[in-house]
Amino acid sequence: MIELHDVDKVFQRKGKITQALKNINLKVEQGDIYGIIGYSGAGKSTLVRLINALEAPSSGRVIVKDKVISEYNAKQLREMKKDIGMIFQGFNLLESKTVWKNVAIPLILAGKNKAFIHQRVNELLELVGLADRGGSYPAELSGGQKQRVGIARALATNPSILLCDEATSALDPQTTVQILMLLKRISEQFNVTLVLITHEMSVIQKICNKVAVMDNGSIVEHGNVLDVFGQPQHPTTLNFVRTLIRDSLPESIEQASNTNQHIRRYRLEFLGETAGQPVIYQMIKTFDIEFNILFASMSEVQDTVLGFMIIQLSGDAELLARATDFLQNSGVRVEELH
Ligand SMILES: Nc1ncnc2c1ncn2[C@@H]1O[C@H](COP(=O)(O)OP(=O)(O)OP(=O)(O)O)[C@@H](O)[C@H]1O
Ligand SMILES: [Mg+2]
Repeated sequence: MIELHDVDKVFQRKGKITQALKNINLKVEQGDIYGIIGYSGAGKSTLVRLINALEAPSSGRVIVKDKVISEYNAKQLREMKKDIGMIFQGFNLLESKTVWKNVAIPLILAGKNKAFIHQRVNELLELVGLADRGGSYPAELSGGQKQRVGIARALATNPSILLCDEATSALDPQTTVQILMLLKRISEQFNVTLVLITHEMSVIQKICNKVAVMDNGSIVEHGNVLDVFGQPQHPTTLNFVRTLIRDSLPESIEQASNTNQHIRRYRLEFLGETAGQPVIYQMIKTFDIEFNILFASMSEVQDTVLGFMIIQLSGDAELLARATDFLQNSGVRVEELH
């Protein structure tokens, strides 16, 4: 659907050179909800601007729908752009036009006839839950409602790709969830491929199936959300995961407990099925050791439970080794903490 091969993007302004993207390789498949997460300045917006041909890569190839963008002629490029909808953090609505008109504009520009536009706009407002607000002006709407207008407008020409640049960053957490669920429904119902830029882990957690983590112009990690966030490799990825699930002991607990030869501390990682199984109970029943939970943190990612538990075990050293082997063999990742 969308592929970037060895893409670099260099900006040159007033003699200052910024390499916004470095050797980017990315593949978005049809139906993906592909999240791109990174801190400010990582290059996320630049990457999206390459996909809808607002910018050209300095080197490398951007392929949209099996064709390199630079090989599209002007007419094909216009058609391709109609197939890509875009929504923004600031909504970008025309304040002097009604909601109805805002949604109608892409259709008017596409030269559709009045009857068609009438039907399509009503249908879109219905879809985003604003059927009764067509006559309102943007200033009369809440942030969430404005974004719904943005979504309706982006979908007007029936695109197969929707690009969302920080589409929920200006919204409160509850409204964010509503907008994300709307996007997910649209993706499923109309088979729209979504590329979603964010700096919030919770956005990725709620709707994405794939994720790319960007840092300083590079993609440092990418793949299925669960794989990337279940075993983060890069410090930036780890920092994002920690905003969702704590994987280390809070200092207050750290200070209050101590370890020695017979009391050892372990970090357990549960993923998917293991999270729902009574492995700890089985371990205590099988081995004569004392067990104490110091800290636990769990969250749901892609309908799978992901969690960490920090425990203390007391007992004979050999027994502890056998007990932790037992956990490992049950599918729990075990790491001794020193
Ligand atoms: N048109 C431009 N001219 C010069 N430099 C630019 C231009 N657009 C982006 N940059 C630079 O490229 C880098 C990446 O910017 P980009 O907007 O892609 O980051 P971002 O990840 O979207 O950040 P944010 O989360 O703040 O939106 C930044 O250093 C930025 O200053
Ligand atoms: Mg940006």
